[in-house]
Amino acid sequence: ITPVLRDSNLYRYKGFCFFKEFMKPEFIESLQDFKIRDDDVFMITYPKSGTIWTQQILSLIYSEGYRNGTDQTETSERVPWIEFQVLSKDPNYDPNSRPSPRLFASHLSYRFVPQGLKNRKAKIIYVMRNPKDVIKSLYHFEAMAIYAETSPDFDHFFQKFLDGDVFAGSWFDHVRGWYTHKDYFNILFIKYEDMIMDLRSVVQQMCMFLGKELDNESLDIVVKRATFNEMKADPLANKENMAEDFFDLKTGKFMRKGTIGDWKNAMTVAQSETFDHIFQEKMGDLDLHFTWDI
Ligand code: A3P
Repeated sequence: ITPVLRDSNLYRYKGFCFFKEFMKPEFIESLQDFKIRDDDVFMITYPKSGTIWTQQILSLIYSEGYRNGTDQTETSERVPWIEFQVLSKDPNYDPNSRPSPRLFASHLSYRFVPQGLKNRKAKIIYVMRNPKDVIKSLYHFEAMAIYAETSPDFDHFFQKFLDGDVFAGSWFDHVRGWYTHKDYFNILFIKYEDMIMDLRSVVQQMCMFLGKELDNESLDIVVKRATFNEMKADPLANKENMAEDFFDLKTGKFMRKGTIGDWKNAMTVAQSETFDHIFQEKMGDLDLHFTWDI
């Protein structure tokens, strides 16, 4: 375990950054033995890449657009975390005893997920977003998340992100790790930008992967309930119910902008060029392309 220099709430462990307070190494290691069922579905992201959005979509797909008896349950509880168990509002939350098919969310790297996922029967949806927008989104999120240290300014945060001194560690390692180990898993890669540009097609793609056949009407409902404005107005989807414990809503909103290209409002030309250079160096050999702007 090596100390992370720029954020004292975090520690670095095997290339990943965890919260010191509630993610001890023994707990994290124990997740690898979590017993996987063949019909489990994991939704995995680097932070700020479309997590809550995909949680919403998944839970809607599985309940055909409705909440079917979970009307008072937050999206993030319907697709609960595997590693943030302490963040659950349910004091008895036990991922083991969830009824099948279980839907889980995770920010873990491929190294730390339950090893049973390598049976390639359980499914993983990995959502990624162009990293310049991830930087911008995370910069704002850091300011409102009570458990993350706030950077004094964007320049400071930019460097911190490049150094991987943020929760979940380096974006490059996370995406590269999952992408280059895809053959070990039954995994579907989705891009945030594709969701923005054609949500219906992406939902259809997810349904196909999940083996869920939705009729047109149910599909329409899923898409409608997963739009930015619907989610922003829905206290069960916008995380504002969790606010008092985890977020300072005076500083920002979880459902912030939901667009492509907002990085241009923060990054200088020089920073953008530096980023492009690093991106090319670290990811250029991969067949991975992002939409940076529309
Ligand atoms: P911005 O900060 O750029 O607005 P995560 O859930 O992984 O933390 O990601 C949060 C980001 O996803 C935020 O980005 C948020 O606005 C965006 N988001 C959440 N739901 C969305 C939706 N329905 N449509 C578009 N963007 C959405």
